[in-house]
Amino acid sequence: LDVHRLFQTLGPIFRYDVGRSQVVSVMLPEDAEKLYQVESLHPHRRLMEPWVAHREHRGQKRGVFLLNGPEWHLNRLPMNRSVLTPKAAQKFFPMVDAVARDFSAYLRKKMLRNTRGSLTLDVQPSIFYYSIEASNFALFGERLGLFDQNMSSRSLNFIHALEVMFKSTGQLMFLPRSLSCWTRPQAWKEHFEAWDFISEYANSCIEKVWQELALSPHQDYSGIVPELLAHKGLPLDAIKANALELTAGSVDTTSFTLMMTLFELARNPAVQRALRQESLAAAASITEDPHKAISELPLLRAAIKETLRLYPIGSILDRTPPSDVVLQNYRVPAGTSVHVYLYSMGRNPAVFQSPERYNPQRWLDERLRFSHLAFGFGVRQCLGRRLAEAEMLLLLHHVLKSFQVKTLLQEDLKMAYRFVLMPTSFPLLTFQPAS
Ligand code: HEM
Repeated sequence: LDVHRLFQTLGPIFRYDVGRSQVVSVMLPEDAEKLYQVESLHPHRRLMEPWVAHREHRGQKRGVFLLNGPEWHLNRLPMNRSVLTPKAAQKFFPMVDAVARDFSAYLRKKMLRNTRGSLTLDVQPSIFYYSIEASNFALFGERLGLFDQNMSSRSLNFIHALEVMFKSTGQLMFLPRSLSCWTRPQAWKEHFEAWDFISEYANSCIEKVWQELALSPHQDYSGIVPELLAHKGLPLDAIKANALELTAGSVDTTSFTLMMTLFELARNPAVQRALRQESLAAAASITEDPHKAISELPLLRAAIKETLRLYPIGSILDRTPPSDVVLQNYRVPAGTSVHVYLYSMGRNPAVFQSPERYNPQRWLDERLRFSHLAFGFGVRQCLGRRLAEAEMLLLLHHVLKSFQVKTLLQEDLKMAYRFVLMPTSFPLLTFQPAS
């Protein structure tokens, strides 16, 4: 958010030093597009040093998030087939749909316990349970039952480990390792302990799937990881490394985006009404085939884009161009790290008219070239994009059909950057019957 102020003072490009290297910061769609145009077959990103340190120290392989070059490519191709292609999405949409329906039923059950016929709650924990439940089902083919019992301590510890991992990443990522070892030993300790827990969590899920497939190999589709194991496109340790990244990346990203969408809809009732109409009209067709949510809910998809414009959960895109590139009339030499700041792009009036307005319709009306970049761009874009879209679209679809969402708070929420962009606190939301 300090960088946002720097853009306002210095203009759409500036450069700063990080240790001995330089980083160029940009924020206009045209510059992101130029970076895309010079990309090689293996787009290069600066790797997240604290995460790499953990894998090296524990002797673990790295997945696509932590690889560059041909090894990234070798991992990414089979991962795309099982996670990102429309064919893959077609298979896991019904699984996510089942969890989204249960979430809606869980809210209704809670609402019926209230004599005023409404439910007012801090929705954050429930949304986190939803993301864990939906991701776990789609990734490993197992329901955890987080809505019908008291939260298991294992899932609570998992949420806590993710929180510590992201927070300590934010504390360590901007300092060279040789320095932060001395100045931030506690952050390193917490970082490693958090990753150890997340690794153990993901590994135990895989071990179960692996054993079940070994005992009965020819089974119907039962999730992303079983499919990866069955295809044998990657060795087991590479599947484990990638499954760890999918597990770690699958919770906060969708949870915070969902929460911010619910908040924006609560304070923009006219937008909420339009979305409800769309969802009711598409309900029968989505019940028949949940993947139809992609084609039948254009305004809801636009609303998710609009949330990510204002609150891009991964607010910086990082590329190291393989050849010189001219950005805003400056020649940026090959091999320089370039950051594209999505937060500043999304709030720039030269890119988006009245950027402070939450207006999903803009994505349907205006020609917005190269400006929906919340999932990145090109062949290195977010691997979990389709799963994230499934979780967000289907939850909002089922909730909006049944409930009106309201809030008393009209002011903007304060945001903080902890590797992911998140609200510092979240208001109470009230759910009431839609009709
Ligand atoms: C609202 C949801 C999400 C957003 C906005 C988001 C955003 C991003 C962004 C901006 C990148 C970098 C792309 C680039 O450099 O071009 C990325 C990469 C990645 N994301 Fe997501 N993400 C989301 C959800 C998820 C989920 C649910 C998963 C896992 C199931 C996931 C897994 C990954 C992985 C593995 C990468 C690394 C891809 C690579 O380097 O090849 N993300 N994501």
